[in-house]
Amino acid sequence: MLKVTGIFKNFNKHEVLKGIDLTVNKGNVVVILGPSGSGKTTLLRCINFLEKADRGHLDFDEISLDYDTVTRKQINDVRKKTAFVFQNYNLFNNKTVLENVTEGLVYGHGVEKAKAVEIAKKAIDKVGLSDRYDYYPSQLSGGQQQRVGIARAIAIEPEVILFDEPTSALDPELIGEVLTIIRQLAKEGKTMVIVTHEMQFAREIATHVIFMEEGVIVEEGNPERVFSKPEKERTRQFLSRVLPPEYMI
Ligand SMILES: Nc1ncnc2c1ncn2[C@@H]1O[C@H](COP(=O)(O)OP(=O)(O)OP(=O)(O)O)[C@@H](O)[C@H]1O
Ligand SMILES: [Mg+2]
Repeated sequence: MLKVTGIFKNFNKHEVLKGIDLTVNKGNVVVILGPSGSGKTTLLRCINFLEKADRGHLDFDEISLDYDTVTRKQINDVRKKTAFVFQNYNLFNNKTVLENVTEGLVYGHGVEKAKAVEIAKKAIDKVGLSDRYDYYPSQLSGGQQQRVGIARAIAIEPEVILFDEPTSALDPELIGEVLTIIRQLAKEGKTMVIVTHEMQFAREIATHVIFMEEGVIVEEGNPERVFSKPEKERTRQFLSRVLPPEYMI
C-alpha cells in the first residue's frame, strides 16, 4: 500500500536520513523507535511532504514517484491519503474545535461546508469531545487538544495516519486518554505509523517495530521479537535504557 525506498535527506550537509526503506500494509500499525535526533520526525515528514527528501522513491497505491522529480499533483495526491498528528497539536488557536476540524475538509479536501461540519462533528464525537465544539484550544487541556488533533486527522478518512510522538508534550495523567483513542483506531483496523517513546504502548499496539539510529534502520520486526530478543547490540542498549528491567531477557 505505502512503500518508501532509499530515502535520503540532509540538512546543511548533515545527512539525517541515509537510505531508509519502509513498507506499510493496510491495517498495519508500524511503530518507530529510536533515540533523539535519529531522524524519526524527519522520516514521517518526508512521507507526506512536510519536508522534501533529497532522493528516494515512494509508492502509494496507484501513485509512484521519485522525490527529486516529484510534481505538485503527486504531492497533493499523497497528502489526500495521509494525515499527520503533531507532537504539539498544531491547532489554530484563534479557531474553535469545530472550526479546526472543519477547516482541512473544506480547504484541503474540497468538501462542501455543511457536509464538512457534519463529518467534523462525528470525528469530534469519536474522540469524546462532543461537548466542546465551540471551545478554543486555550480552553482545553493538552490531552483534549491532542484529541482534537486526532479528530482532524480521522475526519479526512486518510489511508494512513502518521503520529509524531502524540503524547510526549502531555502531563503523565493525560497520556492515557490519548493512547486509548489510538488503541481504538488500531482495533478498527486503521493503518498507522507511530513514533513514540511509550514503550509499553508500542509493544502492545505495533504489528511491526522499527528501531532507527543516526538515519538508518538498525533493526525491525514483530514487536515480541524486537522487544524480547533484539538481535543488534544497539537495539539492546536502547531498549535497556528505556524499558523497565523485567522486560529484558
Ligand atoms: N529543519 C531542520 N533544519 C536543520 N536540521 C534539522 C531540521 N529538522 C531536523 N534537523 C536535524 O535532523 C536530525 C534528526 O532530527 P529529527 O527531528 O528527525 O529527530 P527525531 O528522531 O525525531 O528526534 P526526537 O526524538 O528528539 O524527536 C537532528 O540532528 C536535527 O537537528
Ligand atoms: Mg522527533
